[in-house]
Amino acid sequence: MIVTDSGLKRGDNVSLLKANNIHKRFQGVVALEGVNFELKSGEVHALLGANGAGKSTLIKIVSGYHAADEGEILVNEVKIPFNDPKASHKAGIATIHQEHNLIPHMSVVDNVMLGQWIGRYGVVSEEECRKKALNAINRVVPGLDLDLYGHQLTPAEGQLVEIARALSEEAKILIMDEPTTSLSPREIERLFNVMRDLKSQGIGIIFVSHWLEEIFEICDCVTVFRDGRYVGSEDIKNLDENTIIRMMVNTDVPELSPQKRNPGKEILKVRNLCKDGVLQNISFDLHEGEILTIGGLVGAGRTELARCIFGVDDYDSGEVLIDNIPIPKNSPRAAVKVGIGFVPEDRKGQGLARNLTVRENFTLSLLDKVTHLGFISKTSELDISNEQSAALKVKAPSMEANIMTLSGGNAQKVVIGRWLARKPRVLILDEPTKGVDVGAKAEIHRLIGEFAESGMAVLLITSEMPEVLLLSDRVLVMREGRISGKLNRSEVSPESVISFATAEEVVY
Ligand SMILES: Nc1ncnc2c1ncn2[C@@H]1O[C@H](COP(=O)(O)OP(=O)(O)OP(=O)(O)O)[C@@H](O)[C@H]1O
Ligand SMILES: [Mg+2]
Repeated sequence: MIVTDSGLKRGDNVSLLKANNIHKRFQGVVALEGVNFELKSGEVHALLGANGAGKSTLIKIVSGYHAADEGEILVNEVKIPFNDPKASHKAGIATIHQEHNLIPHMSVVDNVMLGQWIGRYGVVSEEECRKKALNAINRVVPGLDLDLYGHQLTPAEGQLVEIARALSEEAKILIMDEPTTSLSPREIERLFNVMRDLKSQGIGIIFVSHWLEEIFEICDCVTVFRDGRYVGSEDIKNLDENTIIRMMVNTDVPELSPQKRNPGKEILKVRNLCKDGVLQNISFDLHEGEILTIGGLVGAGRTELARCIFGVDDYDSGEVLIDNIPIPKNSPRAAVKVGIGFVPEDRKGQGLARNLTVRENFTLSLLDKVTHLGFISKTSELDISNEQSAALKVKAPSMEANIMTLSGGNAQKVVIGRWLARKPRVLILDEPTKGVDVGAKAEIHRLIGEFAESGMAVLLITSEMPEVLLLSDRVLVMREGRISGKLNRSEVSPESVISFATAEEVVY
């Protein structure tokens, strides 16, 4: 038997963490109703369920951010107190959050070493801190500049730094709530390798993802929750995709097939768009009733392009035209006026109005539609909200609940619903199904297809190959700020997209 650094024995299958009969309500709304969960050493354990099933709530209870109303959490068979993040941390639990939690004005070194400046023998020297941070960073994201500040990191880098922090703290239980949503395929592969390494050292990992391919690739077993209830736990080798989906949503999810569309006249033109160090000479046209996908890897400049077109970011030169008329740059208001809608990638940060209700968030960009003689009609706001909420199956206690009380995926559906309700002429969607569950993903795909059929021009940014194959009429691939490939429908394949995205020959 090999005894590892963490003091655990490989292959022992020791129970690291148990959550027994956990109940949790938020102001009367049931989030968890008697769920169980057990994590063993050396396993990656998927926690699965549709949006709002209670995954993040359990994770927050385990990591000490929420108290449960009933039940107990045991680490190595010892009960840990509720609502005490320090106690959870001390017990060896480290949590990587859905949105990274770095301190913006601290360097990578300080972010990794947060809380470890005081060592057993006094203050750790700056040199020592740097050495430890470098060690951890090298295991996750080698080559990252240690002097960058938290706010200078991409979401992907930020999350990797959070993982490095957990490694440097020698966590024994690692909780990852949707860690792969902002990572490129290569970064995901690197993360999975790190996870395999941790597993072999006896560390237990709780892993949440809405991508079943990832579950089958990295997880040893799964536990499924549905509507806050425990459905079951099973070894991955005894499961297939359909069984898992049925456990999660209790029905089958319709399988969509690519539709043939007949795009109409040109509506959006982008001409020679340049932004120093970000975008180089981007030109393309988008037609009515067409879905144009922008493929590429995280960091290729796709989000920046979308932000420049919509006017949230400035550009140096070039033009964006609607119906051959240039639209003023740097003005989202002007963009909305000419009929452009934009669902941003970072929906929690940029898409949501944090202090407003679900209803207000649904109708935020619709003011002209819901205003009658200058008054905002709450009834029509409610109608629109209820309609979108039903279409996207948003799970919310009520339309009057604060948006921040919704689960991650449900809040994202609200931002998407807001723009779908407005029916813009051009809709830019940046990773629209990131973080939404399998059922809602299919629904969003269906709606995007329907809207294109009704004449809407859709600019779709996605890193998900099945989404590219299902929805695209044409694909532009970006690499390092420029368009590296243009593919029409018959040329689109995983190989062609990947080879333009990475400049590498793809051999199968
Ligand atoms: N702070 C809160 N106040 C009120 N209700 C909350 C709060 N946090 C979560 N909820 C509710 O608890 C339920 C479970 O939410 P949770 O965030 O755990 O879901 P999830 O499984 O993580 O979903 P997702 O896949 O969308 O991230 C949801 O109905 C949500 O609205
Ligand atoms: Mg969640």
